[in-house]
Amino acid sequence: MDFPAELKRHVARVERGLDQFVPRADTRPARLHTAMRYSLEAGGKRLRPVLVLAAAELFTGPTLEPDGEATIPKSEIENRKSQIQNPIPAAVAVECLHTYSLIHDDLPCMDNDDLRRGRPTSHKQFDEATALLAGDALLTHAFALLAENYPAPLAAALVRELANAAGSRRLIGGQMEDLLAEKKSDATPEELEFIHLNKTAAMIEASLVMGGLIGGAGETEVATLRQAGRHLGLSFQIIDDILDATADTATLGKTAGKDAKAGKTTFVKLHGIEASWSIATKHSVETRASFTNLYGNKAFLGALVEMMSCRSR
Ligand code: IPE
Ligand code: IPE
Ligand code: MG
Ligand code: MG
Ligand code: MG
Repeated sequence: MDFPAELKRHVARVERGLDQFVPRADTRPARLHTAMRYSLEAGGKRLRPVLVLAAAELFTGPTLEPDGEATIPKSEIENRKSQIQNPIPAAVAVECLHTYSLIHDDLPCMDNDDLRRGRPTSHKQFDEATALLAGDALLTHAFALLAENYPAPLAAALVRELANAAGSRRLIGGQMEDLLAEKKSDATPEELEFIHLNKTAAMIEASLVMGGLIGGAGETEVATLRQAGRHLGLSFQIIDDILDATADTATLGKTAGKDAKAGKTTFVKLHGIEASWSIATKHSVETRASFTNLYGNKAFLGALVEMMSCRSR
């Protein structure tokens, strides 16, 4: 498997999907749709939608390369291949939801950031009300995409998964505790894990699970993907904390050094940089270990996790 080529291919599919499944910028009201596209089209790593595609094609993809014991009979794989749904609308839904969370995360009442994905944040480029509404619209659009593009039982499962991940007990709950833990001198590792597990890992978990559901994953496979997503999400946010403290603004495309200034409770604050790297690495190793239980084209997912574990942006 040529990992860089495969990654490029998936990212290009995501970009085309975003263009196809998000209303055009000149749709009335143009200011709102322009703002939605402004934040989406600024780029980003597209990790979550790529996870949707990779998980959806784990068992059925064009490049199925079984490595290890086949735990699924060949006939079952053929059956899944004939049933697979297009994963692109779900990948776009996940990226819309993620982008909404970034627009709101940057608002003055939240992290008050000026730069995102190498561009002025939405409220700087437009205004606070437009940024708020663009976020609301991207959030809503994500669920419309799932409802409109999948048959009833699968659509319900995807909506449930995304709603749970993005809801008050997970992403939004994590964001709430992130803010509550600002300037808190006695925040505990347990509180920090709650924040990271929910504000970030929930969506990474949901991306893998949603892809799996589209690709016909059974209960055990979904549980494995969930477990992998939990570890990948934790390692991802720990590295985000490390990069905030160590990388520069130009490389990140967002303001570096903001966490310490805001008095955020982060892995760097509680554990220091070196220990944070080793905890992040431990979670990356756990992610890859989870994949050993899966049959299918997992070489790409393994390489993606490897790349994410030493990312610099
Ligand atoms: C940023 O996510 C917010 C976090 C959860 C750390 P990403 O680092 O995936 O941001 P983009 O999508 O690449 O811009
Ligand atoms: C953001 O966490 C998590 C969500 C957007 C849900 P951060 O506040 O650490 O993300 P960045 O560093 O601004 O990208
Ligand atoms: Mg934040
Ligand atoms: Mg932030
Ligand atoms: Mg951060």
